[in-house]
Parts: sequence; structure tokens; C-alpha cells
Amino acid sequence: MALNDLFDVSNEIVLITGVSGQLGTEYAKAFLSRGAKVAGLDVRPSASSDQLCSEFSERYFYCVADVTDKTTLERALVEVREHFGTPTVLVNNAAIDSPPSAPAEENGPFEEYPETSWDRVMDVNLKGTYLCCQVFGAAMAIEGKGSIINVASIYGVVSPDQNLYEYRRQRGEVFYKPVAYAVSKSGILNMTRYLAVYWAKKNVRVNTLTIAGVFNHQEQVFLDAYCGRIPVGHMADVQDYNGSVLFLASSASRYMTGANLVIDGGWTAI
Ligand SMILES: NC(=O)c1ccc[n+]([C@@H]2O[C@H](COP(=O)([O-])OP(=O)(O)OC[C@H]3O[C@@H](n4cnc5c(N)ncnc54)[C@H](O)[C@@H]3O)[C@@H](O)[C@H]2O)c1
Repeated sequence: MALNDLFDVSNEIVLITGVSGQLGTEYAKAFLSRGAKVAGLDVRPSASSDQLCSEFSERYFYCVADVTDKTTLERALVEVREHFGTPTVLVNNAAIDSPPSAPAEENGPFEEYPETSWDRVMDVNLKGTYLCCQVFGAAMAIEGKGSIINVASIYGVVSPDQNLYEYRRQRGEVFYKPVAYAVSKSGILNMTRYLAVYWAKKNVRVNTLTIAGVFNHQEQVFLDAYCGRIPVGHMADVQDYNGSVLFLASSASRYMTGANLVIDGGWTAI
């Protein structure tokens, strides 16, 4: 195989969940610009997804589905097959977290963290990934070809550093990075290993991509704290993870399964 072919994704049919979000859109663009066909799945449309529909009308389509609802996922699989065929790449990217603006109880002390919030986060981040693997991964296994990329977070490998948010407590807010997101993302790591072993003989590879925080015009006090903690001294750019997603999707990573690729500016190195 020629070196250039190693990273070729032009024959892939890629399904990306959470395509309307900050990173999902970038992954879609990265695959589309290299000739792949892409199905973008989300609970909500977005201007960026609409833009992709008009720019790449032959090779991109958006489908509404909820990763926590197996029926909508099965419908999405039918749609993808009608458009392009069975997916060969699945990027499990959809997830929820408590945004900094979430109600106080969401970001309060662990002792009072609401059960309803726990259930909601687990439902989307963990059950959603499991259901997408069940529906789309199973279809890949029948075809005997596939690469599944489960997106996790540095907060699934190490604990959130609560010191980062000290500036909020100093200005009188009660703020702790909540437990559910971190636990849901660490669950992804072993779901990946489980499925990698389970589907190893079916030629479906399953890997985790662990990533760190992305710059999104956060307030300066947060940036100062975060960038002071991270060895490279800055947050990721929205395009910084494209290379690793393409690598995991392509035959450049063909002997890699059950692994956790950590792209984090050195966050977990200390
Ligand atoms: N952005 C970061 O700093 C960062 C850091 C570490 C890990 N991550 C991970 O990267 C991934 C993408 O992050 P992002 O910043 O683009 O998030 P985002 O919030 O911008 O996008 C997430 C998308 O998922 C969709 N979604 C939520 N619930 C859904 C459901 N039930 N069914 C279908 N779609 C649903 C949302 O509508 C949204 O478009 C997530 O898995 C996240 O945990 C992000």
C-alpha cells in the first residue's frame, strides 16, 4: 500500500453523531474535504450542517435522531443505507455536559448533585454511545468492515481539577465541575475495550479518542487558569483533533483496536 493511501478515507461512509456541535462539524468537513460520504446525525439542525448540505449535496446529508432512542437510530441506519450504504466509520461524538451557565445545583457540591442530572448525562453520553454501537456497529460487523471512534475526554482519564474553578468560588459562586460527565467519559474507555475484543474477528475496530478543552471564547479568568495548567500553554483549536479522527478512520490505524488515543496538549502527562 502506497504511503498516501494509508490515510485515504475517500471510500468511507462516515456517520458522525452530534454533527451540529462545535467539533462534529469540523470532523464532517475534514472527511468531506477528503472525498468521504458523510451522514451527520443530531437532535437539532445547525447553520453549519445546512451549509454542508448545500456545499456537498452529493456526499453529505443530515438526519435527525436522538442517540438515546434506538428507534430513531434504526431509522437513521435505513436512511444512511438508502443514501450511501452501510456506514464504515462511526464517530460517537454526541455528548452533553453542564455548561458554565447551568443552574446552580448542576455545578454545586458533589453531595448535592441531582440524580436527574446524573441520569440525563449518563443517558446521552454512555447509553447513547452503547445504542449507536448496537445499531451501526452491528451493521458494520455483518458487513465485516468498520472503524468506531468513541470520543472521550481528559476528564474521563483523570479527575477534573477543581482548582481550575477556584476563581468562581472566590467571586462568591458555588461551582464544582460535576461528577456525571467525568464518570460517563471513563465508561467510554471500557465500552471501547469490550467492543474491540467482541468484534475483533469481524474486522470492526473500536478505539477511544480522548481530547482536551477547545478554545471557544471562554472568559479570560478561565483561560488563564486552564492555560496555566496545560503543558503546551493553550487550549486546542477546533481543528486540532481532525488528524487523529482521520487516522483512526483510515487504514493507517488498521492494527489498532481497543486503544485510547490521547490528544491533550500534555494535560494527562502531569
Ligand atoms: N469541546 C471541548 O472542549 C471538549 C473537550 C473534551 C471532550 N469533548 C467531547 O467532544 C465531543 C464534542 O464536543 P463539542 O464541544 O463539539 O460539543 P457540543 O455541545 O458543541 O456538540 C454536541 C452535539 O451533540 C448533540 N447532542 C446532544 N444530545 C444528543 C442526543 N441525545 N442525540 C443526538 N445528538 C445529541 C448536540 O445537539 C450538539 O450538537 C463530546 O463528546 C465532548 O464530550 C469536547
